[in-house]
Amino acid sequence: MPAAVIVGAQWGDEGKGKATDLIASRIDYVVKFNGGNNAGHTVVIGNEKYALHLLPSGILTEGVTPVISNGVVVDLEVLFEELDALTTRGIDVSRLRISANAHVITEYHRTLDKVTERFLGKRQIGTTGRGIGPTYADKINRVGIRIQDIFDEGILRQKVEGALDLKNHLLVKIYNRRAIVVDDIVAELRSYADRLRPMVCDTSMLLHQALIEGKTVLFEGGQATMLDVDHGTYPFVTSSNSTAGGASTGAGIGPNQFTRIIGIVKAYTTRVGSGPFPTELDDQFGERLRSVGAEFGTTTGRPRRCGWYDAPIARYSARINGITDFVLTKLDVLTGLDEIPVCVAYEVDGVRFDEMPVNQSDFHHAKPIYENFPGWRDDISGARQFSDLPANAQAYVLAVENMSGARISAIGVGPARDAIIQRHELLD
Ligand code: GDP
Ligand code: IMO
Ligand code: MG
Repeated sequence: MPAAVIVGAQWGDEGKGKATDLIASRIDYVVKFNGGNNAGHTVVIGNEKYALHLLPSGILTEGVTPVISNGVVVDLEVLFEELDALTTRGIDVSRLRISANAHVITEYHRTLDKVTERFLGKRQIGTTGRGIGPTYADKINRVGIRIQDIFDEGILRQKVEGALDLKNHLLVKIYNRRAIVVDDIVAELRSYADRLRPMVCDTSMLLHQALIEGKTVLFEGGQATMLDVDHGTYPFVTSSNSTAGGASTGAGIGPNQFTRIIGIVKAYTTRVGSGPFPTELDDQFGERLRSVGAEFGTTTGRPRRCGWYDAPIARYSARINGITDFVLTKLDVLTGLDEIPVCVAYEVDGVRFDEMPVNQSDFHHAKPIYENFPGWRDDISGARQFSDLPANAQAYVLAVENMSGARISAIGVGPARDAIIQRHELLD
């Protein structure tokens, strides 16, 4: 039975939430394996719109067991807020399981995220300010707090003291902020213990057993390939591995278990925050993509930077993740354009690059080389078969598929749950 991974193939917000929702009725477990509440997934079901940050999108489907695995960083205040909000709307969240090894985001991580960004000035990353980077930094520095620590007050206090030792010097002497009080952090984390306890388990074991029993497990990546700390546009990235390999380490599942790697890619490109973006448009076309595509961040509300489809990035993502299937989303947003440019390669100081340059400075200076495709005018939001699409829309999809390194198995034609064209099965 399949263990499938969903990853973003660009800079995030490709429609991963909707893609998860599309296959959720056929899965038993949905696992968030990286990131935290920096993610923002909007899923539209009938007249209801759900915005999820920390919880995996599959939680919206009855019968699915949602799992937050070891690779995630968890802000407990946000966790319980999201759970309560969903419960109020009639969603059953009782099956949620959380790894005892997941790291916890605390007040000092959020504070450090904000002050370090301010100190970076012009070089700032444009983070979501949710404390993601400082929490992963503590994990790597071996001074992190894990979910399991919350259940032992003595251990928790020792660990919080260890974590705050250096940080309070930094906060007070460098950043001119108030010192953080160990007791306050311990009391806040302990206040969640009773509610948290029944949800916590060895999620690697849980998923391993599920796979042995022939259950279907979907691993839902937050962020995206170009935001991956190893493979993205470093340093303008998030602090986790949001590529498919992250599903293995982030959930404690052997890489040989994964049967499908589904890359979600928009029919154009967007990015939130700073960093290079070769096809970015600062003109009326960028403005048009933003307004027609409603490109405003689900998490921070920031306007997303918009540009044309970048085929070398899709190919790079196909390679880094081992993508078996693409879901091409938001094709409907391109309706009404006379011509649609697609970036097929870059030019850097007179030299042509057919693939992503490995050197960061080259990518910063990369100018897109475009091939133009004729547009279409008919509304495509009601199309459910590939043959329902206007000829030029079909030609655009086939051209993009040909350039992107994997087949396009589904095409999004609107935000609604059923606004999708399926060309190939996404699960085995
Ligand atoms: P995620 O972070 O990858 O889950 O994506 P977001 O939810 O942040 O952003 C994607 C947005 O596009 C959401 O508002 C979706 O409702 C919307 N969306 C998804 N697929 C389509 C599509 O095919 N067409 C249109 N017009 N909107 C879509
Ligand atoms: P989803 O899952 C788009 C970006 C931030 C910033 C950088 C680092 O909805 O696709 P962080 O707070 O993670 O330290 O910020 O990463 N970023 C996202 N951009 N979609 C996301 O998630 C993102 N999560 C983080 O804007 O540039
Ligand atoms: Mg998003």
